[in-house]
Amino acid sequence: MSEHIMRAVTVREFGGPEVLTVEEVARPEPLPTEVLVRVHAAGVNPVDWKTREGRGMAELQTLPLILGWDVSGVVEEVGFGVTTLAPGDEVYAMPWFPRAAGGYAEYVTAPARQWARKPSTLDHAHAAAVPLAALTAWQALADAAHVRAGERVLITAAAGGVGHFAVQFARRLGAHVIATAGAARHPWLKELGADETIDYTTTRFEDAATDVDVVIDLVGDAHDRTGTRSLKVLRPGGLLVALTAGVSPELARAAEAAGVRVTPYLVEPDAAALTTIAGLIDAGEVAVEVAETFPLEQAAAAHARLETARTRGKLVLTVTG
Ligand SMILES: NC(=O)c1ccc[n+]([C@@H]2O[C@H](COP(=O)([O-])OP(=O)(O)OC[C@H]3O[C@@H](n4cnc5c(N)ncnc54)[C@H](OP(=O)(O)O)[C@@H]3O)[C@@H](O)[C@H]2O)c1
Repeated sequence: MSEHIMRAVTVREFGGPEVLTVEEVARPEPLPTEVLVRVHAAGVNPVDWKTREGRGMAELQTLPLILGWDVSGVVEEVGFGVTTLAPGDEVYAMPWFPRAAGGYAEYVTAPARQWARKPSTLDHAHAAAVPLAALTAWQALADAAHVRAGERVLITAAAGGVGHFAVQFARRLGAHVIATAGAARHPWLKELGADETIDYTTTRFEDAATDVDVVIDLVGDAHDRTGTRSLKVLRPGGLLVALTAGVSPELARAAEAAGVRVTPYLVEPDAAALTTIAGLIDAGEVAVEVAETFPLEQAAAAHARLETARTRGKLVLTVTG
């Protein structure tokens, strides 16, 4: 294969998992201040399949599209002016979000300062599981909610990609962590730092949790009105961080009537936070859960699995190496 051609999973029209097609496409070239990274693994996130369906970040994209925002790999080439990275460096990132990053491919280019050094104790598959989910949890807890020691934090969908990081980060911030998940996940979530677990399949969390300062809602109103129901567990003035679909006018009105606050939130690239998170991982303070890896060619199967919303931790595509 020519060095200027690469394999990638492309989307030529929005639709089901079957629109994900392996093709040979032109390899990107790094502009000045960018680096070219040989992708070893690419994380799969719900925003990927939602965008593939024509929702998610679809309206920001042009077709054909290469999905994938989570990348772990090795710097192949640096563009003019780059002094912070060199060929051979192992890096990870969530570059370009919400613009397309093209992670489901053999190569990606992105600004050098959007990349962080990959956690040295992780292989690429586990490193690729980190950026989008961990940054979401980190920024939602620390930047959006300013969680402080002693506060009570409820995390819905705590066993998923974002949730399992949120449990660990909230615990590190000194919060009392209440996690919703199916009962089979409870022992694991307690190991990660959950103080209380609620089985959402048998118990309505508003009957089991009270006086909560912050809700990190990873389920939303589309499923059993989880966002609106979570307003009931908040103390007066408490905050709902709504991560799945923004804040509808109905949800905003319900929050106002309940005397609590609600904010939408969208993750942003943040190499400095990824460097801090890599340090926590390498110190053994944060664990990364990968439920399953799929070869790049099986991206459609990975999407179909993630769409069931029953994954413990993350799914990852292995690309090379
Ligand atoms: N705003 C942002 O910046 C942002 C960033 C990242 C993700 N998100 C959104 O946040 C959501 C979660 O993302 P993710 O990557 O963590 O998803 P994920 O990994 O697919 O989540 C899977 C988990 O969801 C749990 N779950 C499903 N329904 C549940 C319910 N009703 N109550 C409690 N848990 C439930 C499952 O637990 P069991 O297996 O125990 O059933 C499973 O462990 C998605 O909608 C995603 O699009 C938003």
